[in-house]
Amino acid sequence: MKVLLTGGLGYIGSHTAVELISAGFEVEIMDNLYNSSINVLDKLKNITGKQIKFYKLDMCNLSDMDKMFKEGCFDAVIHFAGLKAVGESTKIPLTYYETNIGGTINLLKCMEKYGVNKLIFSSSACVYSTENVPPYKESGILKPINPYGRTKYFIEEILKDYVNANPKFKAIILRYFNPIGAHESGLIGENPNGIPNNLMPYITRTALGKLDQLTIFGDDYNTPDGTCIRDFIHVVDLAKGHLKALNKIEGLSGYNIYNLGTGHGYSVLEVLNSFNKVCENKVKYKLGKRREGDSECNFASSEKAEKELGFKTEKTIEEMCLSAFNFEKNNS
Ligand code: NAD
Ligand code: UFG
Repeated sequence: MKVLLTGGLGYIGSHTAVELISAGFEVEIMDNLYNSSINVLDKLKNITGKQIKFYKLDMCNLSDMDKMFKEGCFDAVIHFAGLKAVGESTKIPLTYYETNIGGTINLLKCMEKYGVNKLIFSSSACVYSTENVPPYKESGILKPINPYGRTKYFIEEILKDYVNANPKFKAIILRYFNPIGAHESGLIGENPNGIPNNLMPYITRTALGKLDQLTIFGDDYNTPDGTCIRDFIHVVDLAKGHLKALNKIEGLSGYNIYNLGTGHGYSVLEVLNSFNKVCENKVKYKLGKRREGDSECNFASSEKAEKELGFKTEKTIEEMCLSAFNFEKNNS
């Protein structure tokens, strides 16, 4: 089966490429390099021993996408490409709607024209309302609170409508929780431009002295240590979830949603303490104010993915911390 990965040079896409190739799938990658580097392609070759066909193009350009589909003859698409910074999305919402939603509509038009009927879409836990009581189930209330989250929610709705209109089309929506960590080779990982927004790259860069100190956003939440709780999932486990979804999609019909998380929550302080322990470090930190828009506690119900996809995470929080640090050191 030949699979197109949109945004496949990014953090989650690159790890998924490795897992798919190892499992024998033929993978091609499309990316406009907005938030990734062409060097990742060489790293993927290094890890897998395979040359991967790459299309550098913007999914907002329909005619470029059309040319790629004409050439590609894909059997399925995993759609990672998009903009993902929550804070930025509140400043430039139109760019987020245009890229994430416009790009997805272009993708669907091309899939329809070239008869590609299997899609796996990267959605997010941020589509859930904070009114839900964790563990969050797929059937929970949906109420994203920022433009980024709303792009994911709207795309889910568009896919639902499209599947109803086109019975041959099968879609799997994967709602990711908090991916962290890196491939064991230390060659690929999370490498955000500028100052990281997310917790783990902030920790690893502070540990190496690239940043002065971490600020923990709030220690007055109603949690055991006062800091927020999240479902941190190793990116390699997450990548393997895509393999499970791909293996399952043929036998499914219509529109299907799965959470990809571990089913367990760790607090921000617990993650920091694990990092310091396994990486033999003492990351400097201060306690700061709450960050606007953060939910107190969320973690996944992983029951549906386990039962229907056979998805089970394997890696520990310690492995997540060590591999993230290993990648940061390799990329300094
Ligand atoms: P990433 O930014 O590392 O990867 C996204 C890739 O898409 C990048 O390589 C970027 O260059 C590419 N891209 C962006 N706009 C494009 C365009 N117009 N045309 C073509 N390529 C474009 O992000 P990631 O962390 O790997 O996330 C992958 C997907 O998973 C995204 O859709 C993201 O919203 C979703 N997601 C991520 C997280 C997370 O915490 N990392 C959580 C939930 C959902
Ligand atoms: N945090 C800090 N200091 C930092 C960075 C983060 O204390 O410097 C805290 C946050 O306040 C939060 C926790 O660490 O409590 C996790 O924050 P992240 O920014 O790493 O992750 P979020 O849970 O906010 O969001 C992430 C992705 C979203 C995705 C969501 C899914 O950024 O795209 O997970 O749960 F939708």
